[in-house]
Amino acid sequence: MPKSKALARIYRGTKRNLTFLAGRLRAGELVAVPTETVYGLGANALDAEACAAIFHAKQRPTTDPLIVHLHALDQLEAVCVPNASAWRLAKAFWPGALTLVLPKRPAIPDIVTAGRSSVAVRMPRHPLLRRLLELADVPIAAPSANPFGYVSPTTAAHVRASLGTRIRYILDGGAAEIGLESTILDLREERRPRVLRPGAITRQAIERVLRRKVVVLRSTTKVIASTPQIAPGLLDRHYSPRTPVILHRAIKHFPQADEAYVCLRRPAGLRAPDNVFWLDPSGDLRGVARRLFSTLREVDAAGYRAIHVELAPGAGLAEAINDRLRRAAAR
Ligand code: TXA
Ligand code: MG
Repeated sequence: MPKSKALARIYRGTKRNLTFLAGRLRAGELVAVPTETVYGLGANALDAEACAAIFHAKQRPTTDPLIVHLHALDQLEAVCVPNASAWRLAKAFWPGALTLVLPKRPAIPDIVTAGRSSVAVRMPRHPLLRRLLELADVPIAAPSANPFGYVSPTTAAHVRASLGTRIRYILDGGAAEIGLESTILDLREERRPRVLRPGAITRQAIERVLRRKVVVLRSTTKVIASTPQIAPGLLDRHYSPRTPVILHRAIKHFPQADEAYVCLRRPAGLRAPDNVFWLDPSGDLRGVARRLFSTLREVDAAGYRAIHVELAPGAGLAEAINDRLRRAAAR
């Protein structure tokens, strides 16, 4: 029998704990951290060995690069080569849920970028993480804190449930405010900004700041794990529950007792049976985004034969929600 490993400890964000966890990060250890989007699995981005441990813990292929998190704008030029568009967007949206892909500086080890000449950077908004980044005083590389391919975590308990035996430290920052991963924008060619992954910061909002058209790469683009990808890590099948997911424009009937139905809003006049779920009482998309991953996890664990989910109507945040739903449903 392999020696059973202790379960990760969840730390509240006291001053003492933050100082301790910052020290762990500086010493090259992994710390799961809250962000306003989803929880991340953090390591010192300047320490190749520490970053290699992220891939090991997540069982993530080393072809899938990490996002580097900063707490101050004056760190930006140490990790990448920002252009004028990057400065404009950083001033408009940071701290916040926007990740920029830019040419990297040599200080960032190859393992972080999967050998690419570009690096993904963002400045998160969560106050506890900002404090931790400041105390650690190094850029922190962090992908979402889930085993590769599974639904991203939006609470400390989610992180412990899936990575608890592989890591030691989790900082609890409450339930993630946004609930979907950041928007990733490829800014390497200033004239051709491209959204690699839609998120809460919408294409329309980015276009208003840049005053130019922004292309959104389709999540339905077929990508094969072994071929070089434009958007590495954005495999069709991602964010996936183990239970098959079936998407619908609208769900009006709940015919199968052994299948789950996940609606955007509370179904009207229904004395809802146990297998009917809703993401937000009134279908507000911010509430839908916030509850999406935790609901998928909960329903996945309940042992239904299938999960039926309603797609979100409209543009903006709906595009990010539907992107994750399409990936969850891809086989
Ligand atoms: O909201 C978020 O972005 C969260 C929190 C923790 O910050 N992070 C996150 O990381 O969702 P994750 O697991 O999605 O991994 C980062 C993704 C990669 O899969 C890849 O698609 C993209 O970021 N990425 C990273 N570096 C890149 C690069 N140099 N070029 C293109 N895409 C890159
Ligand atoms: Mg991820």
